[in-house]
Amino acid sequence: MQPLENKKILLGISGGIAAYKSAILARRLIDAGADVRVVMTSGAQAFITPLTLQALTGNPVHTDLLDTDAEAAMGHIELARWADIILIAPASANLMARLSHGFSDDLLTTLCLATDAPVLIAPAMNRLMWSNPATAANTKILIDRNFTMIGPDEGAQACGETGAGRMHEPETIRDAVIQFVNNHSLNKLAVPGGSAIPSTAQHHNAANQPSAYAEHHRSLAGLHIVVTAGPTVEPIDPVRYLTNRSSGKMGFALAAAAVKQQAKVTLIAGPVSLPTPSGVARIDVDTAKSMHKAALSAVHGADVFISVAAVADYRVESVAEEKIKKSKDDLTLTLVRNPDILASIAAMPEKPFCVGFAAETEHVKKHATGKLIKKKLDLIAANHVAQPDNPVFGSDSNSLDVYWPGDGHQHIASAPKKQVAAELLDIIAERLATR
Ligand code: C5P
Repeated sequence: MQPLENKKILLGISGGIAAYKSAILARRLIDAGADVRVVMTSGAQAFITPLTLQALTGNPVHTDLLDTDAEAAMGHIELARWADIILIAPASANLMARLSHGFSDDLLTTLCLATDAPVLIAPAMNRLMWSNPATAANTKILIDRNFTMIGPDEGAQACGETGAGRMHEPETIRDAVIQFVNNHSLNKLAVPGGSAIPSTAQHHNAANQPSAYAEHHRSLAGLHIVVTAGPTVEPIDPVRYLTNRSSGKMGFALAAAAVKQQAKVTLIAGPVSLPTPSGVARIDVDTAKSMHKAALSAVHGADVFISVAAVADYRVESVAEEKIKKSKDDLTLTLVRNPDILASIAAMPEKPFCVGFAAETEHVKKHATGKLIKKKLDLIAANHVAQPDNPVFGSDSNSLDVYWPGDGHQHIASAPKKQVAAELLDIIAERLATR
């Protein structure tokens, strides 16, 4: 039996250059056994003709809400009832905005309001349109209403830019639909309310292959996330300082991944030589005290605080005004404790969801969970540093053990920091949803 046999799929096509891929998608769905009917918006018809889709599917293509001939053949309510699944690919920013606000000003949006079938959408738009807070807010509304997101993908875009917003390839979308069908009963009234929602471009499977659809429950879209990253430097005199080996790569990867998940991101960075990820608001700091001040002001009203920075625990008590001369055989520096930025934010009455990092050389679980409790955190991500296979500092890859109160634990296997960041954000989104 073919994977989509007896499945009636209503393929909605909205306006965007990715619409040309919808012709191939229709073919792939039919090859998998589906009965496909197509609805096109007027924008879609500027990119691809209804005749193409009619020839490929063998069914008339529906374009108008108020067309008497079409209504006589199969009325819009009948069409909405006919579908087991509505799949919209590409879904433009405009269509997502109209869907999220319940518009019914054309045939496709009307069908989505009039159906009890699950709606799957494959967004396609310019990267800035995708990361715009308006689109993020609309995506969040759609996900909360059990729409299933397939992507978007990231990469080169038709507009010449590179980033998140590309529509997935037809084969990937077909596979996502098959996975959806396998995972959910298609009894139309049993749309998976509150259960796993297949989503998005940032997920990757264990074999490090990009996957268009991984399961998670909530999205970070529209949330304000503050991340600290990199080392701090603590001056000794005008030319010398104390610091550590943190490269900032993990914190920068988290900031970039959070923007891709449509969060608003503030990145407070110690001295590192890394470019600012696109869409991130960056604040450069140097000492632990300056990072503390920036963090306290940035977390005001924020939803999540992720403290990745390797903050110096101590600073020199009195910084010499002039360069210290080597006049004596010994030199004693008196160090005093720096504020614990994370603990102070986690102690705030209106605190954001607080995530700490713990770099440990031994007894990882014991030390990490000890910090989780002591600093009153919502989550802690621990890495076992100084291991031959996990150097962490400066490395492009990482593995994490994530702990949360109530004995929660999840392991993130060794992978590029970009991928580990996306997986950690998914855990944060799920924990946030249960808070
Ligand atoms: O106690 P420890 O330094 O191992 O805790 C690590 C966590 O606390 C990290 O998330 C780090 O960013 C944060 N931290 C901080 N301020 C400090 C020391 C650590 O925010 N002064």
